[in-house]
Amino acid sequence: MSEGRTRAPDPLGRARTLLHDAARVVVLTGAGISAESGVPTFRAAGGLWKSFQPEELATPEAFARDPRVVWEWYAWRRELVARCVPNEGHLALARLALRDDRDVLIVTQNVDGLHHRAAREAARTADHRRAIPLELHGAIHRDRCAVCGFKTAGAAEVDVSDASTLPRCAACGGALRPDVVWFGEALDPETIDEAFDAARAADLCLVVGTSALVHPAASIPAATLHAGGALVEVNLEPTPLTPLATVSLRGAAGEVLPALIG
Ligand code: OAD
Repeated sequence: MSEGRTRAPDPLGRARTLLHDAARVVVLTGAGISAESGVPTFRAAGGLWKSFQPEELATPEAFARDPRVVWEWYAWRRELVARCVPNEGHLALARLALRDDRDVLIVTQNVDGLHHRAAREAARTADHRRAIPLELHGAIHRDRCAVCGFKTAGAAEVDVSDASTLPRCAACGGALRPDVVWFGEALDPETIDEAFDAARAADLCLVVGTSALVHPAASIPAATLHAGGALVEVNLEPTPLTPLATVSLRGAAGEVLPALIG
């Protein structure tokens, strides 16, 4: 490069400018943002779907067939997640959402509740509600009745020793299940509509730590792009979104997000 010519901004600099200029931001996160907190992802080497069969654990049919086995797996994950804490990536996103100079909506596919905990931590004594995420796939710490739909806080430890010890609904006596979306189930229509409305209205969609393979969540960034907004992706690896991204930031969310957001 010759003296005096302006140097093209690096990807991080370009992403910072896009974020700085965006009045409305939608953030879509996946399992990768929680990896540095110790929550296993699904599809990478060592990911949950490499060691476990989703159809045996995360479908309504599996629950009808053997609720004890399904609960055993979710009770293990619930206890694992309860021991994890939000990392610098969750906290940076919470700080972004708490700023009052722009509209930010965090939309997550994760059921681990770590964005919610980061919101409280980042807000301290202030109101943390702006940083509460839309949870597209539910919440692992909540139970829902498979019969009447009643929702309740889940027990920290579930006794999975026998089918008769599994949690039952206080309202109707039906079987309680984790309040998460399983394969073959529809997402809550109001939640997904809210996510797509925010994506269409956004100047910037920031996508973090998702393989972008599971729809409808994986279609959210396209809604921003089709409406004329920009897409910034943060991931360790390329994904189907990478060719569409305005800027791709290759790296760990816990390092890249604080550098991007401050
Ligand atoms: P995946 O496990 O499919 O993808 C995780 C992504 O995070 C991969 O693209 C990794 O490269 C990336 N990644 C891992 N560690 C990272 C880090 N430290 N920083 C940045 N990126 C990192 O998880 P999801 O895309 O979230 O659905 O999976 C989507 C859905 O599939 C889940 O919500 C779950 C699963 O089946 C349900 O349970 C309904």
